[in-house]
Amino acid sequence: FNTFVAKNEPMPTYSPGTKERNLLDACVASYECRIRDIPIVIGDEEIRTEGERYQVCPFDHERKVARYYYAPKPVIQKAIDSCLSGRKAWERTPLAKRAEIFLRAADLMSNKYRYDLLATTMLGQGKNIWQAEIDAGAEIIDFLRFDVQFAREITEYKPISPNPEELNSIKYRGCEGFWAAITPFNFTAIGGHLPMAPALMGNVCLWKPSDTALLSNYLVYEIYREAGLPAGVINFVPADGPVFGDTITASPDLAGINFTGSVKTFSHLWKQVGANIETYKSYPRLIGECGGKNMHFVHSSAKIDQVFYGAVQSGFEYGGQKCSALSRMYIPESMWPTVKENLVQFHKQLIVGTPLYGETFMSAVIDEKAFARCMSYLDYARKSPNVSVVAGGRCNDSKGYFIEPTFLETKDPRDKLFQEEIFGPIVTIYVYPDAKYRETAVLASKTSPYALTGALYAEDKSVLDELSEIFEDSAGSFYINDKSTGAVVGQQPFGGSRLSGTNDKAGGPYYLLKFLSPQSIKRRT
Ligand code: SER
Repeated sequence: FNTFVAKNEPMPTYSPGTKERNLLDACVASYECRIRDIPIVIGDEEIRTEGERYQVCPFDHERKVARYYYAPKPVIQKAIDSCLSGRKAWERTPLAKRAEIFLRAADLMSNKYRYDLLATTMLGQGKNIWQAEIDAGAEIIDFLRFDVQFAREITEYKPISPNPEELNSIKYRGCEGFWAAITPFNFTAIGGHLPMAPALMGNVCLWKPSDTALLSNYLVYEIYREAGLPAGVINFVPADGPVFGDTITASPDLAGINFTGSVKTFSHLWKQVGANIETYKSYPRLIGECGGKNMHFVHSSAKIDQVFYGAVQSGFEYGGQKCSALSRMYIPESMWPTVKENLVQFHKQLIVGTPLYGETFMSAVIDEKAFARCMSYLDYARKSPNVSVVAGGRCNDSKGYFIEPTFLETKDPRDKLFQEEIFGPIVTIYVYPDAKYRETAVLASKTSPYALTGALYAEDKSVLDELSEIFEDSAGSFYINDKSTGAVVGQQPFGGSRLSGTNDKAGGPYYLLKFLSPQSIKRRT
């Protein structure tokens, strides 16, 4: 622990015929023929309540992958009590010991369970091999290892003691109370990270996973336990969202919420905390990562090849269901004919289908709600006189929730397609007069209420400087001559402001400060 230096986890290629591909295929097959039973876990107790539910493959309505149970209010309360009863013992466990558990979990993920993590993410969340590897193969391991290194670094600070008769120190305590991690479907890594980060820093935590990511998330939970995480430090509590939110925010012991999901839910939680503020023992801390309306802004000096590769990858990988995914693009008139032609050609080559097949680029969106939301924007696009379909636009839910990757063009840079988050494979383009790049950039920086990711493509140095300044407040994670997705832990700490969240920068050191409540001690000798 004292000398541990994290490195990003290497990613295998999974090319057909390789050992890793064969092992992965066999692992996927082993999950295909069973339905995993996933209990609520509180301490060492597994709980199954009445009214079983099923997680179904997004790309195949016939295929159930997991059976699970919702925790009602008394069970959520029991999970809180269980966490609290073990809090002091866990907090007093030295950081080095806590870190050891998560490093062991990282090693288990890297070796023993790598294919299982990928297979459960592919089947349950519809990721193709490569997208599953980036997430459940590499990123989750990176979060664990880098957080351990960051935890050591931020707790190395010691206050000065200039007077020989006194000794000043800091005790790096966790927070009094319990944390709640409410996690999304789109990254197994985020699922595992949100409860792990508070736990590493000495906190106890309830983990409410997404109903559509249970298969992979429960495996992550089991790995933490196998690595030695004591019972009750993290309790695994699938539940109805509003019931869970109302129960945790009504508890006087709520220390914080670590959330990734919709603006609507985060705002609701914030209001609940506000309404109950006088009942808490400490002010709860709220960390939120809530989506985006991410842009690629292309200047006429850009390298044109980078523009279409970036657009297709950022807009459509994992069906545009990354918070960071491209959803609005600005292209100068002079480039548009070439860009359009290339986007159309690229589009023809994209294979959409089952994610289990190695060549598939993109699969179905996660569920019926996501499908209906994408459909409604495609309907709007078809009816709007300002909007035309450049490529794609079809949908089919007969077997799974399939939306074709779609490029739209709008004549109105204030179109709702440029303001509202769609969270699906739909990218809208606005073509602007080359000379008006500055005005268009100013408008682009203000059009959306979000500020998560953004990318600027330009080779002209003075334009880069000028536009980077204009975009300063409109993206928490900003890319120059690269796509807006794919932040790597330890390299590009991730997060955004405005409606996108509290910008606490997961994958960087300062994130962990939120989970500490240090005690400063002056001791006279
Ligand atoms: N961190 C992911 C990315 O950068 C999104 O959550 O793509």
